[in-house]
Amino acid sequence: MRLNLKIWRQANAATSGRLVDYVADHVSPDMSFLEMLDVVNEGLIKKGEDAIAFDSDCREGICGMCSLVVNGIPHGPDRGTTVCQLHMRRFKDGDTITIEPWRAKAFPVVKDLVVDRSAFDRIITAGGYISVNTGGAPDGNTIPIPKNIVEAAMDSAACIGCGACVAACKNASAHLFMSAKISHLSLLPQGKIERYRRVVAMIEQADTEGFGSCSNEGECEAVCPKEIPISNIARMTREYMRAMWIGAK
Ligand code: SF4
Ligand code: FES
Repeated sequence: MRLNLKIWRQANAATSGRLVDYVADHVSPDMSFLEMLDVVNEGLIKKGEDAIAFDSDCREGICGMCSLVVNGIPHGPDRGTTVCQLHMRRFKDGDTITIEPWRAKAFPVVKDLVVDRSAFDRIITAGGYISVNTGGAPDGNTIPIPKNIVEAAMDSAACIGCGACVAACKNASAHLFMSAKISHLSLLPQGKIERYRRVVAMIEQADTEGFGSCSNEGECEAVCPKEIPISNIARMTREYMRAMWIGAK
């Protein structure tokens, strides 16, 4: 396939960026989207030009590093799929593909398609952990927990912290990300001890970072590669209301 690419190029956060046209030739339908970009970069390097900066690590949908908006959709057109697992067979010969970085005030562009997502790390540092001694895995396995609760906690733990939910949201809200972490931890007995302090600390940190609020439109759920349900946000709101009620700090 021969594809026309419009790729966001930006030297750093202090400069303005723009879409630059490239042609990707001899693209195999079996290539992943990131492999296609690797080939484009090899061509640029051979010509002595600056390679396009983009993030990736596992390329298996696990780490949450890949972060491209493809034709206006974070992670591209396939539901429940990270952009590293998107394949070129999804496109047709002659297609034009626009590739941009996540866009949110709290995720400043580092270079080209790479954004700084350390705001998520600071939210986790604020409260996304269990600090009481919970013992080892055998101790955890001896605690009887209803199956539906275990499964809901595990489904929430599937969040890979990619930030697509923020990129899709018109308010740049981090609610889906935070609610997945809060659900994962507060549903289990080991996480209940700090549940109210946790929800307050994480939401306060998200406000400090400049993430917006939630207006319940579900764009986050639609693009989440791990299909984290928006019902987690309702759970987070209930946790927050209870925390406010008891005056948790
Ligand atoms: S909730 Fe989904 S979209 Fe948001 S950070 Fe987690 S995995 Fe990514
Ligand atoms: S590179 Fe790890 S999830 Fe895409």
